[in-house]
Amino acid sequence: MDIRERNEKLRIIHQDGGEQENILEILIDLQFASEEGYIDEETAALVAQELHMTETRVYEIVSYYAMLKEKPQAKFVLKVCNSSPCHFSRSEEVILSLEKKLGVPIGKTTDDGLFAYHYIPCVGACDIGPVVKIKDTVFGSLDDDKISSLIDDLRNGEVVV
Ligand code: FES
Repeated sequence: MDIRERNEKLRIIHQDGGEQENILEILIDLQFASEEGYIDEETAALVAQELHMTETRVYEIVSYYAMLKEKPQAKFVLKVCNSSPCHFSRSEEVILSLEKKLGVPIGKTTDDGLFAYHYIPCVGACDIGPVVKIKDTVFGSLDDDKISSLIDDLRNGEVVV
């Protein structure tokens, strides 16, 4: 992981004091922030180091909770902002469009392993909501047609993120 990524993970780990008792919330936030929607080895090691725990204990927690993943969820994890401005610009319709297009509910991965999607908080692009973030790229002003095209383009390699 590069310095910027490491610093962002440290910020998440310490945002509520860096206490062991908050490890579940910390791991969920780290997973939401990750590119492929899972807790990788480096991240688990960083959590263990910062919270003064063993890596084994961190992995026990990751494997105990179904919402936490030890492997990539999908090649493309679409993160749908649901903070208030995007919510009012119909982020729920984005979720419905994704469910219709991909044929899997929120939090599940398509059979081909290409797509998964879930909600995240504000990504700082409120003026173009509703938005989806994929890795470092934000797609805004989305509607049913644009979402359908975006999925097709990602699948065909016509949009690179
Ligand atoms: S509320 Fe969605 S980007 Fe800010």
